[in-house]
Amino acid sequence: MTRAVCPGSFDPVTHGHLDVIQRTARVVDHVIVAVGTNISKNALFTPDERVEMLIEECAQWGNVEVTLFRGLLVDFCTANSIDVISKGLRATDFGYELQMAQMNRQLTGVDTIFLPTAPQWAFVSSSLVREVATLGGDVGPFLPAKIAERTMARVASRNAGAGNRM
Ligand code: PNS
Repeated sequence: MTRAVCPGSFDPVTHGHLDVIQRTARVVDHVIVAVGTNISKNALFTPDERVEMLIEECAQWGNVEVTLFRGLLVDFCTANSIDVISKGLRATDFGYELQMAQMNRQLTGVDTIFLPTAPQWAFVSSSLVREVATLGGDVGPFLPAKIAERTMARVASRNAGAGNRM
């Protein structure tokens, strides 16, 4: 039984992420979507909220589970008998992703497979989605409907808070 991990921040999960998760779930027996817990100042959602949203979106696939992870990804892989790390790859990601894949392989021998991001999502990233949403743009096309709703609501409450402080 082959087990893969799809790690990421997923703040928020986009159509591009879900495409990679689905394609990974087609080629391995079991997928764990692992949400990193590093809190960034610019985070829109807490790690628990991201897990909650991912569980809802991934419920359509019977061989995908979602969890949080802390610390090194390679340690998570060892503890969870992961055979391979699966990541989507955009042209702009290549250098850093290659470096991480090689570091992870050096650390414990765990290998990484890269799936080329679907062309229609090649320009989509969570960070751009956060920026566009914060500045009032329409992020509906890049996110599942419920995630888009929650993203807009979170941005609105944040912007209202920021307005109160100005
Ligand atoms: O969606 P992101 O922000 O690109 O996800 C990055 C993530 C969480 C996959 C990456 O930062 C990670 O693996 N963090 C865990 C810490 C770790 O193992 N660092 C060494 C990487 S070589």
